[in-house]
Amino acid sequence: MLDLTTMRATLAEKFDLAPSLTLAEEMRDIHARMDRVMPLPDFARYAPYIREINRLKREKNAVILAHNYMTPEIYHGVADVVGDSLQLAVAATKVEAETIIQCGVHFMAETSKILNPAKRVLIPDVQAGCSLAESITAEGIAQMRAKYPGAPVVSYVNTTAELKAASDICCTSSNAAQIVAAMDSDVVIMTPDQYLAQNVARDVPQKKVVWWAGSCIVHEQYTENDINEFRAHNPGVEIIAHPECPPNVVDACDYSGSTAGIIKYVTDRKPQKAMLVTECSMASNISDALPEVEFLGPCNMCPYMKKITLEKVLWSLVTGHEEVIVDPEIAAKARVAVQRMIDLSNKLGL
Ligand code: 13P
Ligand code: SF4
Repeated sequence: MLDLTTMRATLAEKFDLAPSLTLAEEMRDIHARMDRVMPLPDFARYAPYIREINRLKREKNAVILAHNYMTPEIYHGVADVVGDSLQLAVAATKVEAETIIQCGVHFMAETSKILNPAKRVLIPDVQAGCSLAESITAEGIAQMRAKYPGAPVVSYVNTTAELKAASDICCTSSNAAQIVAAMDSDVVIMTPDQYLAQNVARDVPQKKVVWWAGSCIVHEQYTENDINEFRAHNPGVEIIAHPECPPNVVDACDYSGSTAGIIKYVTDRKPQKAMLVTECSMASNISDALPEVEFLGPCNMCPYMKKITLEKVLWSLVTGHEEVIVDPEIAAKARVAVQRMIDLSNKLGL
C-alpha cells in the first residue's frame, strides 16, 4: 500500500516540484491541449511533474500507455499512447521500450504484461481496480459452463488474468458484438458485464447471449429518465453513451460506442452540444480539440481510474513500483484469449 506522505516527502527531496508559472509558460504547447478545461495557474501545479516524468521516461527507456479516462494532465502531459482498451492492448503488443507504465486500471496493466511477458510493466497504484473485474472469479466461469454446456465464454477485457485464462476469447466494448456474432455456437456466455451483454444480445439477435451479473459502478448509475430529462432541457443536444450503460439508457441516446468510438463520433459529427454518458475525463480530454462543441451535462467519475495521478506516475519511474506480476502459466492461457480477440478484430477490420 502506497504511503502518500513518505512518497511526497521523498519526491520533494529529489525534485523541485513547487508550482511554477514560469515553467507553465515554457510548456504552453502542452497546456494548449487542455486550455479549455484547466487555467494556466492550475497547470502550473502539474508542470514540474510533467517535466520530470518526461525526462525520466527517456532516461529509463519507459513508455506510458494511458486510457481515455485518465485526467488531462496525464492524457496530454505525459502519455505516449492514449486509447480505449482495445487500442491499448494492441499498442502493448508493439512496445519496444523496456518498461511499460500503465496509466489505467489493474486489468489493463495485466493485459500489457500478458502480451509482453519479457517487459517490466508498472502500475502507479496497484489499488486501481475495477468493479467488473472484481465481480467474478474462475469459479463463476465454471458455474456458467456447467449451466450452458458447450457454450463459448467471451470475457470482457475488464477481468483479471485468471478470468481471461478460464475464457475462450476476450472482447472489448469496441468489438464485443462482432466477436459474439463470430462464435461458432448458438449460445454464447458473456462475462462479467450484464449490461454490455444485454446490449450485445440486442445487436446480435441470431445468438442466445447469457451473462454474468456484474456491472460498472460508473455506467450503471445512469437512468433512462436522466437522459430524457436532460434532452428535454437541452434541445438539439447529442447524447452519446458507453455500452456499459443499461440498454434502456443506450436506447434513449443517439449513439453508443467504446471510448474510442465516442471520440470518433463526436470528432466526425461535431455537434453544437454533446453529453457524454460516461466517465468525466472523456469530455475534458477532447474538449480543446473540438472548440465548436459545447460539452454539457453530468458525468460520473471512476474512483479506480482516478487513483492514477502524476505524482504516483513519477514515483513509479523513480522506484520501479508497483511491478505487475502474472503467474506465467496463467499468463500463457490468458494470452491465448486476448490474442484470439486481437486476431479476430484484425480479421474483421475493426
Ligand atoms: P473502453 O475504453 O474500451 O471503451 O472501456 C471503457 C472502460 O470502462 C474501461 O475501464
Ligand atoms: Fe471498471 Fe467502470 Fe471504472 Fe472502467 S469505468 S475501470 S469498467 S469501474
